[in-house]
Amino acid sequence: MSSKPRQIVVTSALPYANGPIHIGHMLEYVQTDIWVRFQKLRGHECIYVCADDAHGTPIMLRAQAEGVTPEELIERMHAEHLRDFTDFGVAFDNYYSTHSEENRYFAEYIYTQLREAGHIRTRVISQAYDPKAEMFLPDRFIKGDCPNCGAGGQYGDNCENCGATYAPTDLKNPVSVVSGETPIEKDSEQYFFKLEDFEGMLKDWFAAGHVQTEIANKMNEWLEEGLQDWDISRNAPYWGFEIPDAPGKYFYVWLDAPIGYMASFKNWCEATGHDFDHYWKRDSEAELYHFIGKDIARFHTMFWPAMLHGAGFRKPSAVYCHGFLTVDGQKMSKSRGTFVMARTYLEHLNPEYLRYYFAAKLGPGIDDIDLNLEDFTTRVNADLVGKLVNIASRCAGFINKRFDGKLADEPSSDDLSRQNVKAADAIADYYENREFGKAMRDIMALADKANQYIDEKQPWVTIKDAQRQHEVQDVCSIGLNCFRQLVILLKPVLPQLAAQAEEFLNVSDLQWADLGNDLLDHEINRFKPLMTRIEPVFIERMIEATKADLASEQKIQQGPADPSIEPIAPEIKYDDFAKLDFRVARIVAAKRVEKSDKLLQLTLDIGGENRNVFAGIAGAYDPADLEGRLTVMVANLAPRKMRFGVSEGMVLAAGDDEAGLYLLNPDTGAKPGMRVR
Ligand code: 2FM
Ligand code: ZN
Repeated sequence: MSSKPRQIVVTSALPYANGPIHIGHMLEYVQTDIWVRFQKLRGHECIYVCADDAHGTPIMLRAQAEGVTPEELIERMHAEHLRDFTDFGVAFDNYYSTHSEENRYFAEYIYTQLREAGHIRTRVISQAYDPKAEMFLPDRFIKGDCPNCGAGGQYGDNCENCGATYAPTDLKNPVSVVSGETPIEKDSEQYFFKLEDFEGMLKDWFAAGHVQTEIANKMNEWLEEGLQDWDISRNAPYWGFEIPDAPGKYFYVWLDAPIGYMASFKNWCEATGHDFDHYWKRDSEAELYHFIGKDIARFHTMFWPAMLHGAGFRKPSAVYCHGFLTVDGQKMSKSRGTFVMARTYLEHLNPEYLRYYFAAKLGPGIDDIDLNLEDFTTRVNADLVGKLVNIASRCAGFINKRFDGKLADEPSSDDLSRQNVKAADAIADYYENREFGKAMRDIMALADKANQYIDEKQPWVTIKDAQRQHEVQDVCSIGLNCFRQLVILLKPVLPQLAAQAEEFLNVSDLQWADLGNDLLDHEINRFKPLMTRIEPVFIERMIEATKADLASEQKIQQGPADPSIEPIAPEIKYDDFAKLDFRVARIVAAKRVEKSDKLLQLTLDIGGENRNVFAGIAGAYDPADLEGRLTVMVANLAPRKMRFGVSEGMVLAAGDDEAGLYLLNPDTGAKPGMRVR
């Protein structure tokens, strides 16, 4: 290991803020996190940043559909994503958002630099437009019949039935997914990034080995075909950053997404007092690595280096692509129950099982990784429980009970320990080169040797012989020191198990450099089971839960039989419900609101406290009829400032403007202030 610590910046792809994290995503975050933890364990400065990818049409439309603002949606998603990552042991130094001031600054800065250097040009192009929703439509928002095989309900870019790819204009009977209207073609001016200006730079950059060979070959094919301009603008309405000096034009989400890496890093620099330019200036000596899926290689190995270069920044040291996750040899599938959300997994299984299994299967290439559920169970149980934890559980009892928790001061042999130290160099190289599978194989071979040693020495036999007690302490001390070394070697993969093992061994934060420092004459703590076996039923339950998620999703999508009745909203947990405080309220006063034909102003008594509430029921009730009546209100809703005053809650009414509104009232006997549940 070199003596000077490296300075390394690492990123994983930014997940879109319009959906939950699933185990397919998790493959990448686990791969990156292992690599980052390894670097830190070796004493390097390694900063892992990420963020939510918060812009674009799908996020805008989803927020609309949920009746929330895009800001509210992305804030909620950010919290959910971060919780999933944290619970999977993925430890970012900063997890930010592309919808941030830092990102706006860098997006504008990079764009302006590129424009000033002559790398931007405008052109009028014709695109699909939804005349009813009054918006241009991304390919994914147009459906129709496949021009090749005629299959209905196909998206605007490719056919799921026959696999043909085409332009959305080729679709037969196209409709807008947003409004159901037939899209028309409409001209507008757009902003383009002239990628061809960077052809020579990119050729050299690929040749210099900054990307994996398979990816470089693919990119070189595109280079051969000639580089096309990249459309970096979108027309309003769009959810993103407006382009400077181009009113009504927004940066395409893929322009500001990778810039989000810089924004997150800048935000980390501000919080920790680091110098951003030191890491991002053109001749920086710091290293920069992006871990991504192979499907987004072009954005990261063509557009992104060209943008950075054109704007005067450094380029990535490397872009590392991985393949997709399959489950039992097939694409993850909702109906088979294998499209498992991170949260669903966590409700049934220990995250470190999956971290280990991914590690055992990961290599440096772009092949897909298969999660075979049977193999997963067998492998985790055999390796982690049967080999690794077994070493500790076989030795700990004797040390705890017979030797007051004390390890031997001078073990009779350090053969195993030296062997482990020797093997560590190759294992470190494997980690460094993302050959995690090979690292796991070597570590498990060391665990096998430790177990063989204990088998041969049979401490459970010698313990019965009063003359040979010291031998038991000797063997178990050697065993536990071996265990400690294996824990260090596995710490990037199993951080939680490592923390528990440190507690048991009574040592603080183990580092790679501690491998050779065996514990002598050292007191350990009581042993608690470090990991339990996977039972097949846990997996079955997880699959069933995933299928149940799908069933309730479908029920919501199909909606109820009577189309005038709104579909049931997505399922919530009891805790969500329990947050609502409904109270019986007496309407002590009701009056019309000037200049509003919808609102009535109500004064509600909720048992000694009066609330001022504006309710949209003016079309349904005469205020005089309401005075003295009991109804139900949400009493813990945050006050809302309206044009006419502050509303301090909401009354409950059934129906809507079309069907009529019906205020709820409690049964006789209820009193103002009573809690409703
Ligand atoms: O493909 C995706 O999920 C994108 N949200 C990845 C963005 S990575 C980076 F460029 F921001
Ligand atoms: Zn087709």
